[in-house]
Amino acid sequence: MNLRDAFESAFGTAPDGVWAAPGRVNLIGEHTDYNDGFVLPLALPQGVVAAASTRSDGLLRMASLQAEGRIEVPVDTLTPGSVTGWAAYVAGTVWSLRAAGHEVGGMDILVDGDVPLGAGLSSSAALECSTALAATELHDLAIEPSTLARLAQKAENDFVGMPCGIMDQSASLLCVRDHALFLDTRTLQTEQVPLDLGADGLALLVIDTRAPHRLVDGEYAARRRTCEEAAAALGVPALRDIEPDHLKGALDRLPDEVARRRVRHVVTEDARVLQTVTLLRAGSTREIGPLLTASHESLRDDYEVTVPELDTAVDAALSAGALGARMTGGGFGGCVIALVEADAIEVVAGRVADTFAASGFAAPAPFVAQASAGARRLV
Ligand code: GLA
Repeated sequence: MNLRDAFESAFGTAPDGVWAAPGRVNLIGEHTDYNDGFVLPLALPQGVVAAASTRSDGLLRMASLQAEGRIEVPVDTLTPGSVTGWAAYVAGTVWSLRAAGHEVGGMDILVDGDVPLGAGLSSSAALECSTALAATELHDLAIEPSTLARLAQKAENDFVGMPCGIMDQSASLLCVRDHALFLDTRTLQTEQVPLDLGADGLALLVIDTRAPHRLVDGEYAARRRTCEEAAAALGVPALRDIEPDHLKGALDRLPDEVARRRVRHVVTEDARVLQTVTLLRAGSTREIGPLLTASHESLRDDYEVTVPELDTAVDAALSAGALGARMTGGGFGGCVIALVEADAIEVVAGRVADTFAASGFAAPAPFVAQASAGARRLV
């Protein structure tokens, strides 16, 4: 059944419109977004499609083709924690818009997603951003995409309770086909950096390691807290303000070894994003490979957010000839990306699968990422 028909059978009328918002992979710039730093994500073809209509009775009714049942809640009773599970991302976005003073009333909304869940590919941001776009267009609200990204992030931070940064929602709303989004998470300034890998004979292989991934737990929040405490101890607003040239001096002033490692990751990762953007602007795409691999090593050794499946996938991809490879997203499971020659996709994916089998890991799920369009109205 297509989404419009499914909407009619769920809610009894045709939807007023249909909106799509993508998931993302991050090329480089990991755990930098809550340090006011730089990120470089691209949108995936996979995402969430939301069919929606307004209602006059103030009720928010939510259904998903991936879940049983229907969840109903009056919009004026929405409070953090009042809705849980997948619907929290939808309800939280409506709550966030209303909390910012936007007049969003009742809605029927049916979502359908094809972003692998829990794989670190931002299925939650896709849910938030498709809802945000549907709600704003249905209520004739003119909100800048970067402001909308902040409101979607607030839904996740304050309604769902995951203290994420601004990368995923920005990627979902702002990405452009065949480009990576260079985002300064402090100023929200963006640059669309051309990324037509196929034209260069390259491919970006995404390998879902299927290692169970849970970010709504203490580890992500703990990393964020350590960074904020370190910035305060160093007397800067955020770790973004530490220049690579001053890193050694900054580390010498931090008594705690764990904090030193976290700071080193963030400062060097910001520098790697800038170097990657410079190379891409110059058309030197192959040369970004070592920066990707260095990012992984830093996330593994200094930031300590990898798991054996991620490290094994990166090592196997590199040993099969990948130009560079790294974990992508928050870590603790999820996906690895590998920059590969287009004619080496099978070899690299095969080597990772064989190595996983030999290591007793679940079979990984590889696919090639196409830099795709950000959120938009479909119908
Ligand atoms: C998750 C968060 C993002 C970002 C990444 C790590 O995806 O949602 O805001 O912090 O982790 O780079």
